[in-house]
Amino acid sequence: MKLLININILAQTRRESHLQVKGEAMNDLPTIENAWLAIKKGVIEDFGSMGDLDPSRFSAYEQVNLRGKAVLPTWSDSHTHIVFADSRHGEFEDRINGLTYQEIANRGGGILNSARKLRELSEDDLFERAADRLTELISLGTGAIEIKSGYGLTLDSEVKMLKVIDRLKKTFPIPIKASFLGAHAVPEEFKGDSEAYVDHVIADILPEVGRTKLADYIDVFCEDGYFSTEQTKRLIEAGKSHGLKAKIHVNQFTATGGVRVCCEQDAVSVDHLEELTEDDVEALKQRNGGTIAVALPSCSFFLGIPYTPVKRLLDAGIPVALATDYNPGSTPSGNMNFVLSLACVVMKMTPSQAINALTINGAAAMELSGEVGSITPGKRANLIVTKELDSLSYLPYAFGSNHIDHVLINGETFGQ
Ligand code: NIG
Ligand code: FE
Repeated sequence: MKLLININILAQTRRESHLQVKGEAMNDLPTIENAWLAIKKGVIEDFGSMGDLDPSRFSAYEQVNLRGKAVLPTWSDSHTHIVFADSRHGEFEDRINGLTYQEIANRGGGILNSARKLRELSEDDLFERAADRLTELISLGTGAIEIKSGYGLTLDSEVKMLKVIDRLKKTFPIPIKASFLGAHAVPEEFKGDSEAYVDHVIADILPEVGRTKLADYIDVFCEDGYFSTEQTKRLIEAGKSHGLKAKIHVNQFTATGGVRVCCEQDAVSVDHLEELTEDDVEALKQRNGGTIAVALPSCSFFLGIPYTPVKRLLDAGIPVALATDYNPGSTPSGNMNFVLSLACVVMKMTPSQAINALTINGAAAMELSGEVGSITPGKRANLIVTKELDSLSYLPYAFGSNHIDHVLINGETFGQ
């Protein structure tokens, strides 16, 4: 049992359990200055302002003096691909020399390059590499994460990836959600016949994923040259029949009506949205918060593509979450602190909007907001303790510095 005292700023304090925020509420980040917070059995027990602290209530607790420091809920990263074999820095150089992401993919690079490497690697080696990445991410403040398959593209290799994610779930102390992304690219074996590959995913891979219960969600790369809106619909429906809800890559390079299809299929989230039509916004609006829009600004940064027009989404009252998209091709970074800076500096989100998007709405985009995402009694004590800090806006402002002093996971200092 721990009692954190003299917290300079305690951020994202919500007594009643909000599951997400949207509209005007995105502008509101409740905070308490000079606060205390009690942790019992790994869970947030209570909090308040120092002036109201009755120390006799917590006489048996270990007191931790956090004078000058801020405490926030850990980041909830709802979109990652951290199970991969190797980096693709060669393609990075090709892009510097003028090729586009799509041109590299058309030459057999991109996702297929990662698939070739992953198929050769053992499950144990893959686990070790993903575990190293996840360890780094938790020390950077991530306290809940979603991880996708999608670099296997065969039954065996997709299951191998999902088993690795399952081992991460069992090994790490944070909540982890797994998404089956078999339809990430058309593999070489099915070159030129995406329809046959979709049939194969639905008939042969998905039933095994459903049977083993290794996935929580189904994902599809709904994009020109990858999988069509129609195919996405078929895959989502097939996923549903195996108990998987949808979280979909859509509108990264082109907008072809996929957002409406995802909304009609009750997707939990639609991710990317660098391109956005009026009809996409309308479809999301009609969902009344049921589908979260997930923006991935470090992908835009790395590929030099447009940033998701979050202002339009916010103005339409759509709940927005921010995530990293950590993967070896489009976003070789899982640093949510950098996402926070990009959201404020480039996308012009206010620090309050962006912190809501990185915490409570990130948790909602993984259906974890009953467990993490805010300072609420009963939620896990997954907390970022910053270095000395006067204002939360300093976090996105000083974008190159590490502001984290330490991270608590279930009330325990991570990495000790
Ligand atoms: O979200 N766009 C599809 N998938 C990833 C990139 C995957 C890769 O290039 O390896 C993304 O950007
Ligand atoms: Fe992605």
